[in-house]
Amino acid sequence: MSIKIGLLGFGTVASGIPFLLQENGEKIVAAAGTDLEIAKVLVKDDEEKNRLVAAGNDYNFVTNIDEILSDDEITIVVELMGRIEPAKTFITRALEAGKHVVSANKDLIAVHGKDLITLAQDKGVAFYYEAAVAGGIPILRTLANSLTSDKVTRILGVLNGTSNFMMTKMVDEGWTYEDALKTAQELGYAESDPTNDVEGIDAAYKAVILSQFGFGMTIDFEDVAHKGITTITPEDVAVAQELGYVIKLVGDVREVESGLSAEVSPTFLPKNHPLASVNGVMNAVFVESIGIGESMYYGPGAGQKPTATSVTADIVRIARRITDGNVGKPFNEFSRPTQLANPEDVKSNYYFAIDTADEKGKILRLAEIFNSEDISFEQVLQQKANGTTARIVIITHSLSKTQLEAVTAKLNAVEDFTIVNTLKVLGE
Ligand code: NDP
Ligand code: HSE
Repeated sequence: MSIKIGLLGFGTVASGIPFLLQENGEKIVAAAGTDLEIAKVLVKDDEEKNRLVAAGNDYNFVTNIDEILSDDEITIVVELMGRIEPAKTFITRALEAGKHVVSANKDLIAVHGKDLITLAQDKGVAFYYEAAVAGGIPILRTLANSLTSDKVTRILGVLNGTSNFMMTKMVDEGWTYEDALKTAQELGYAESDPTNDVEGIDAAYKAVILSQFGFGMTIDFEDVAHKGITTITPEDVAVAQELGYVIKLVGDVREVESGLSAEVSPTFLPKNHPLASVNGVMNAVFVESIGIGESMYYGPGAGQKPTATSVTADIVRIARRITDGNVGKPFNEFSRPTQLANPEDVKSNYYFAIDTADEKGKILRLAEIFNSEDISFEQVLQQKANGTTARIVIITHSLSKTQLEAVTAKLNAVEDFTIVNTLKVLGE
């Protein structure tokens, strides 16, 4: 007996699955308790089908989803097309047809996951998506299984391989933004629309999924504030280095007294923080919890083989459960009412870069404005921006989101000062 799989899409990730099934076949069959067979592969059109066949791919390529959904021999559908539609419709129809589903589609899972998970439960089928967060790092299963006895208090993560690869190449090797993005695309790291990568949207989707596995709360994507690497300037990078920090795009999900907060933003990380040395396409998820304390899970966040490895692990897991006769358990069983944090409880240090005329009294005036919101300075640096303008860099002590908003409004109301950038700073 073999378990038959229908693949939806045959791009970067999907085309990595045959490699694993072939190179690691013996172990996979032993773990699954059965042979696994890719029975059909959905591609967009005949042109794509002919191209793939000419390139030596010996699969039963189909162009109509019904050929997979109405095939009773296909038990597991693996969606690797990306984006919301038609992936959402295809997965919904597959679950309705009683098929188990594996996906790596964080966009879809972050926004519509709740409905799909409920549908899978109603139908008694599995819906797994380990590869949706941090590519090759098995973080979701780790949170769901290995940390089940622990209480997670904060998850910090370098969650987008494309952004981290680009930042590493630009900062350490002087590449241009355009060259770094082009190479990330060529290496198969970037989304089909890389806006999601560079604007922090992809990492925000992952933060939504992490909030479910780490905290049992389904935070809405709209409630995850996000900024991407496009907001970082070379001057920010230089100042960070001078002050002992590196800047990385960091997802931050934490539970404070009033509830859960999740955001994605370029963040000043102290050089000795474990996340500061996560470079290139590597991702890392840094978990703070009451039992283990601090733990970090590190590995490639994108790329064909790492991601296909996570997808194939989900397939094997489902196959094992089918052969054991206990399939249908939810991927994540931790669930409790979602409660968002009050902004006054969400506190961080911040970096402000402010331009002003290079004249007497400006720093005093700035200190007065920050002091009026009860914000104190940890570090202050004045640089000459050009002949008549000075750049004042401030690293604050801890302040809340409410204080951040208030002080930003006050600074914006004063003509003397131009806020060039504000970024979060992780304390030592
Ligand atoms: P690709 O763009 O390389 O592959 C997707 C493939 O699906 C393309 O060949 C695309 O064709 C095809 N496709 C799109 N729509 C349809 C359709 N309606 N019918 C049939 N085929 C279709 O993406 P990836 O392989 O990189 O990513 C797949 C999924 O995995 C995405 O959800 C992504 O976010 C996720 N992921 C990717 C990672 C990576 O490192 N690449 C890491 C982790 C997750 P066409 O190109 O013509 O549109
Ligand atoms: N585009 C994503 C990234 C793929 O670069 O991290 C992995 O989710």
